[in-house]
Amino acid sequence: METRITRLFGIDHPVICSGMSHIAVPELVAAVSEAGGMGILATAPLTPESTRESIRRVRAITSRPFGINITMLTAFAAGNVRVALEERVPVVNLSLGRSKEITDAVHAYGGKIVSTVTTEKHARAAQAAGADALIVTGHEAAGHGGAATSLTLVPAVRDAVALPIIAAGGFADGRGLVAALALGADAIAMGTRFALSLESPLHAHAKDTAISRSVTDTLYSPNFDGIPCRVMDTRAARKRARRAISFIEAVPSALASAAQLGMSLPQILRMAFARPANLVQQVQIGALTKSTLLSIRKGDMERGILPIGQVQGLIDEVLSASAIIQRTLDEAEEIQNRMVSA
Ligand SMILES: Cc1cc2nc3c(=O)[nH]c(=O)nc-3n(C[C@H](O)[C@H](O)[C@H](O)COP(=O)(O)O)c2cc1C
Repeated sequence: METRITRLFGIDHPVICSGMSHIAVPELVAAVSEAGGMGILATAPLTPESTRESIRRVRAITSRPFGINITMLTAFAAGNVRVALEERVPVVNLSLGRSKEITDAVHAYGGKIVSTVTTEKHARAAQAAGADALIVTGHEAAGHGGAATSLTLVPAVRDAVALPIIAAGGFADGRGLVAALALGADAIAMGTRFALSLESPLHAHAKDTAISRSVTDTLYSPNFDGIPCRVMDTRAARKRARRAISFIEAVPSALASAAQLGMSLPQILRMAFARPANLVQQVQIGALTKSTLLSIRKGDMERGILPIGQVQGLIDEVLSASAIIQRTLDEAEEIQNRMVSA
């Protein structure tokens, strides 16, 4: 299926794997790109050194185009941007912020900039800053989806800007792909669907739990990390949604998760003070990381907190990344044929 997005990135299918912390690792990213879609490497929890290693690992597995997500609010964002530029990553996806300087630097080596947005206002600003495409993330999404649902946000952004759109939030199959195209998108990005794939490093028990849950079994609250965020409805998530963790309570958990991610003390201090204005939020994110690692690495769905989308309720099987893409395309074709002949 050819669209403006497949032509822009030089890929076969309009199906993208979202940048997901601890999940969109080189093996999953490369599997999606190798299958003709495009994987986006998550770098939010990575030091610049690990980001470089991860980029090279993707390239060791596939020669196909891939992307890198830089969450601009995180402490290592500037370092990770520098590495992405040095390594000339084909597609740079900026979320929670944008920059004309980064955009110009990426364009200078022929790369593409994709901005993640959740409002029409941010979509216009990203277009003005020179973005080549947008990821438009609706309310249904795992993590930081917007206030409006994909059903209303995608057409609203379509009307607001001329850029190619990748719709995200609530997409898991061919029905979603056809719906997104009908709403004015040029591709879909799937997070939850690829998190529940064979190549995803998510713990098997967490995958099985997500598959057993319904579209209503998620919670959306600003209390998880300071920005409205959607996670699976678990005991620990309910507790945190009721009351945000205080700064003092969060510090030990943030330090523990940084150590768990293999960061040295100087790296932790550099991270904490890289953006002093964001110190409180950095610590909140660090504390949440301790809970997300419990679910992702240990499969502890009692004490763990797992970002997951409402679309978990539409997924009933763990499949390989290539089977997910093939099934999505086959279903989309079948639906389009049925609609034409109806
Ligand atoms: C386990 C998990 C971790 C995620 N981590 C991040 C992240 O670090 N940064 C980010 O911008 N989005 C993150 N997301 C959100 C995805 O990038 C994407 O926006 C979302 O999954 C799309 O909605 P869907 O889950 O309905 O497909 C994460 C999603 C999941 C499932």
